[in-house]
Amino acid sequence: KQDQIAELIRQATVIPVLTIERLEDAVPLAKALVAGGVRTLEVTLRTAVAVEAARAIIAGVPEAIVGIGTILNGDDLARAEALGAKFGISPGATPELLTAAASSRLPFAPGIATASELMQALAHGFDVVKFFPAEQAGGIKALRALAGPFPQVRVCPTGGVSEANAATWLAEPNVLAVGGSWLCPAADIRAGNWAGITAMCVTAMKTLKA
Ligand code: 3PG
Repeated sequence: KQDQIAELIRQATVIPVLTIERLEDAVPLAKALVAGGVRTLEVTLRTAVAVEAARAIIAGVPEAIVGIGTILNGDDLARAEALGAKFGISPGATPELLTAAASSRLPFAPGIATASELMQALAHGFDVVKFFPAEQAGGIKALRALAGPFPQVRVCPTGGVSEANAATWLAEPNVLAVGGSWLCPAADIRAGNWAGITAMCVTAMKTLKA
């Protein structure tokens, strides 16, 4: 299961973090990202329409590989699995969530920012993690320090990652992909600037895949 999510994240290169406020934005936003070459999407459970939005994308944008983010507990995890998500991501790693995730079939990456959180994740069998909040928790220096005692760990840094630093993160040997909201700015979503989002994705993928 860990190799499965590692491969899924690695192939993504970039995983946009989607916060969808209006259900009608879900499908056009996902289509705009996919059109720009960004297929692996994290739909966060942060808004009232999040579950419906994820369901709409899964049904309407078959090229998208839809995961659920902001998974906080076993109920969220079950909801993600039930709606047909391909993976789940959490900002953190409580013992309750790790136990539920270990017995779920959904490929899952818990969030860690410290050695102790990482040790808890590893104890439950998770060596593919979201490093969150990546920039704020010490950035690449912190990640390199954690890789000393935990060389097996593979990460998706998220939080403060942007066009300006994504390539630097991706150059780290234990970084599989980067995550973040910068490819789908709230203002562009509100304005329905789908072409602008596609254009940003095309540019980002051109630089980052190289
Ligand atoms: C997340 O949930 O992963 C973060 O909110 C994304 O962080 P960013 O907005 O700094 O990219």
